[in-house]
Amino acid sequence: MAQNRSTFPHFATDAIHVGQEPEQWNSRAVVPPISLSTTFKQDSPAVHRGFEYSRSGNPTRSVFERCLAACEGAKHGLATASGLAASLLLTHLLKAGDHVVSVNDVYGGTNRYFTKVASKFDVETSYVDCTNVKTFEAAIRENTKMVWLESPTNPTLTVIDIEAIAAAAHKKPGIMVVVDNTFMSPYFQRPLALGADVVMHSVTKYINGHSDVVMGIIVTNNDELHDQMRFLQNALGAVPSPFDCYLANRGLKTLHVRMRQHGENAIAVAKFLESHEQVVKVFYPGLPSHPQHEVAKRQMKGFGGMVSFQIKGDMKNSQEFFKHLKIFALAESLGGFESLAELPSAMTHASVSEEMRKELGVTDTLIRLSVGIEDEEDIIADIDQALKAATSV
Ligand SMILES: Cc1ncc(COP(=O)(O)O)c(C=O)c1O
Repeated sequence: MAQNRSTFPHFATDAIHVGQEPEQWNSRAVVPPISLSTTFKQDSPAVHRGFEYSRSGNPTRSVFERCLAACEGAKHGLATASGLAASLLLTHLLKAGDHVVSVNDVYGGTNRYFTKVASKFDVETSYVDCTNVKTFEAAIRENTKMVWLESPTNPTLTVIDIEAIAAAAHKKPGIMVVVDNTFMSPYFQRPLALGADVVMHSVTKYINGHSDVVMGIIVTNNDELHDQMRFLQNALGAVPSPFDCYLANRGLKTLHVRMRQHGENAIAVAKFLESHEQVVKVFYPGLPSHPQHEVAKRQMKGFGGMVSFQIKGDMKNSQEFFKHLKIFALAESLGGFESLAELPSAMTHASVSEEMRKELGVTDTLIRLSVGIEDEEDIIADIDQALKAATSV
């Protein structure tokens, strides 16, 4: 399979052109076709032209993998059936008895996978506050083989100094540092350049960007890791469909434009919420009041479209807020063009233990917004009227 690196000086040109060369198709199609064939004619037994069977590789999937890898500044990309399928594949690089150190405020589904599934195969996970390098180092054990980071975290938007944690992890040979870069997308953050070994995404979110595909991707510069993962992907079979690859590849073409607008709208929303008397606290890395604002400025090119806040009152006030929203839909997921709102304690993070939710501050008044790319004034007016309605209960 072709290897990548950024071939153009700028992100937008990579996102639009890498892997899309019309010359690779007999028809010279400018937009890559959807290749539905499950099997490919061979020249002689085991001699083929890059593709043999669609589980092990597919032309439409390859186009997307090459493009996204270039966007992350990586050599290799491997698209998976979902973000969680990417986590599954990466965890299969481990063996029974290995240990994982995960950021404590990790996506609820990742927490559920490590706690309730990987544990059955004797892979143990410690959830650690990674804002403090010393606390992180103290959690490393003799058998630690993987470090799992998200930054900003979900849903409290805590920023982890990826460079510092990766350097601390790499003091001990044999530890693989994985960063789930879903919240930032490669447009705002490139963890491989900060020392991560592997980056994974839920493509379902910003990369596809249109809330109509469930998919994941893993990228790396490490040839050996990539070969192992390609083997595992074929052995495990969690591959995306060609149609989904086509859609994700199409979504990627506008990622830079969408991310800029998500970022502009989100900072406006965060500032508005911070000045609102019905709001206790706002979590957004772009606010100077954010505890890791300086780290965020250093390692991210923008602050993203996710904003969390704590509403005054209790569960009744949260419920009233959701009930009155007109533009925001009360729904899980994030990163689409449309604005979404959710209550992590009852929705995305319901599978996290009550004790850990309490420790992280994931309460019934913590609301998470995925700020879309609708008009900024309309978004703010919607939040304002829902907050006013929520006050009156
Ligand atoms: C940060 C993060 N990582 C991983 C996932 C899992 O991705 P998927 O839903 O595509 O399996 C999600 C899904 O919400 C997520 O938000």
